[in-house]
Amino acid sequence: MKTIIEPFRIKMTEPVKLISPEERVAALEKAHHNVFLIDAEECCIDLLTDSGTGAMSSQQWAAMMLGDESYAGSKSWKKFEATIKNITNIKHVFPTHQGRAAENILAATTLKKGDIVPNNSHFDTTRANIEYVGAQAVDLLCAEGLDPALDVPFKGNMDLDKLQRCIETHGADKIPFGMITVTNNTGGGQPVSMANIRGVKEILDRFGIPLVIDACRFAENAYFVRQGEAGYQDRTLLEIAQEMFSFADAATMSCKKDGLANIGGFLICNNDEWAEQFKNILILREGFPTYGGLAGRDLEIIAVGLMEALEYDYQVYRHATVSYLGDKLKELGIPHVKPVGGHAVFLDAKAILPHVPASEFPGIGLVNAIYLEGGIRCVELGSVMFGRSDANGNEVPAPLELVRLAFPRRVYTQSHFDYLVEVLAAVWKNRKNIKGQRITYQPPFLRHFTCHFEPL
Ligand code: F0G
Repeated sequence: MKTIIEPFRIKMTEPVKLISPEERVAALEKAHHNVFLIDAEECCIDLLTDSGTGAMSSQQWAAMMLGDESYAGSKSWKKFEATIKNITNIKHVFPTHQGRAAENILAATTLKKGDIVPNNSHFDTTRANIEYVGAQAVDLLCAEGLDPALDVPFKGNMDLDKLQRCIETHGADKIPFGMITVTNNTGGGQPVSMANIRGVKEILDRFGIPLVIDACRFAENAYFVRQGEAGYQDRTLLEIAQEMFSFADAATMSCKKDGLANIGGFLICNNDEWAEQFKNILILREGFPTYGGLAGRDLEIIAVGLMEALEYDYQVYRHATVSYLGDKLKELGIPHVKPVGGHAVFLDAKAILPHVPASEFPGIGLVNAIYLEGGIRCVELGSVMFGRSDANGNEVPAPLELVRLAFPRRVYTQSHFDYLVEVLAAVWKNRKNIKGQRITYQPPFLRHFTCHFEPL
């Protein structure tokens, strides 16, 4: 059979409303042309993020009813801890309310001003938590990862020579840990090979530096390893994940991704001293160490979700949805980051709208055109999100102008994707008429969430 079917039936539905073109124009105007300020109800397909937006399985809903809400040492905590230990074989497990809380505890306890943290590419909350304590987040992505059109595997790999040089330049005592993000969200959802994780670990080990994995999409990464790296074709995704975590001294996790949960995260480590510090800050900020800001029912849901994310049929389907869109974009000739990532397709707004300079935010022009055409919400990853001001207050554009279409897990069917393709084809056809945007209001930081635009 050629058709890869969704490996589930739908037991409960949630209405999506296709609002009229006039209503879309009004909604975007009311939101000051920033889709973050549009009501969810005004989006018929919402591809803003794959984080916390997935559908739970019947097993997860059933597990929720088993939630033990005891403050300390609940049965749900035991299941949560046992599942994570099974996947990672890491000694200390701390639940957190989401990924950034784990990052915050890690940064607050292990970093100080002037420290350096290398990564393939830091996600924005990871970077922000590192910078908040005065340390520096350094991206050491391989050169292939910086070229959107280059179609090669494992573009999320770290450049090992750059890592070696980074340590030699700054000194190991300035680097309390190194990180690797699987898959590399900031760089297009691109996977990291097992060989690369092993290589990173070997270099860090030589200098006595621990490795922390940002594991948000560890199961999607495991699938890429199985499909694309020699020697893994006969291994289960669980075995591949176990090998990945065997190189980690610690990990941060957002269970809103490959935990298949709507909320939750964790921080894990082998080092007893780190664990002692994590525990104390966790109690201060999140909650008692056996629930860490989550309800017992959330712990149950995550325990089931982490294992479901490692089911082979689920990952085959998940990757088929992303590739399906990628293949259609290739047919239509619409420029995008190649190969497609694990959780998202990234359109290349710079190449789609060459007539719109970076100073006029082509990504926002494209995001808004997609919304107006079909009520589909996506997000700019370009000069609005990553642009900076220089010493004279002039805008320095981001290196790439991307638009991310992120796919909630188990939520949309093939006809939703067919509709998406039709909308993108219409936007592509009309691309010469898409205009740039001007910022009319912006807050001092993380401006993309709340700033206002005006079409030029
Ligand atoms: N690390 C990565 C690689 C992420 O993609 C995210 C979240 C986090 C850490 C933080 O986790 O949201 O649970 O606090 N990414 C979401 C996204 C928000 O849309 O890509 P969180």
